[in-house]
Amino acid sequence: MNDRERKAPLSVSFVCLGNICRSPTAEGMMRSLVAAQGLSDSIQIKSAGTSAHHVGERPDRRARLAAERRGVSLDSRARQFRSRDFERLDFVLAMDAENLAALSSLPGAREFRGHLGLLRDFDPDAPSGSEVPDPYYGGEHGFDEVLDLCEAACRGLLDHLRSRR
Ligand code: 4NP
Repeated sequence: MNDRERKAPLSVSFVCLGNICRSPTAEGMMRSLVAAQGLSDSIQIKSAGTSAHHVGERPDRRARLAAERRGVSLDSRARQFRSRDFERLDFVLAMDAENLAALSSLPGAREFRGHLGLLRDFDPDAPSGSEVPDPYYGGEHGFDEVLDLCEAACRGLLDHLRSRR
């Protein structure tokens, strides 16, 4: 590929409430799938929370351990989604309807020219409107479920991104 053919990287951010469980899991999973296909230079992956409660924290230990068991590392630090993030992103993917509503009400959301929606809408086997449930107050198995749901949706998302390039 020469310079003229090379396109700007696509930029994706996953968003949940705290940015310590679901969205870092989606970020790590997507990064792992993208790397396996040699696309790390053409797809940028981030995550954020709609709340500021856990800013600066590493992902929840239960999320990190569940991901490590599948060979996925979660290396992010929690940050809060900001309106100006819309200016730099192509895809903003929420884990559930509540966080999608919070994103949609931010200044800049109406002008956003990218895709703002639910992550699981990219899973071809999930009914429209499906969510990634919050595992924070539940048991260990909730973190495995989050990984399963994120993997299926991220595979669908990656197929979609590849079809656009
Ligand atoms: P997340 O999970 O939104 O997937 O990061 C949560 C983390 C923390 C809290 C709720 C959900 N909390 O209430 O502190």
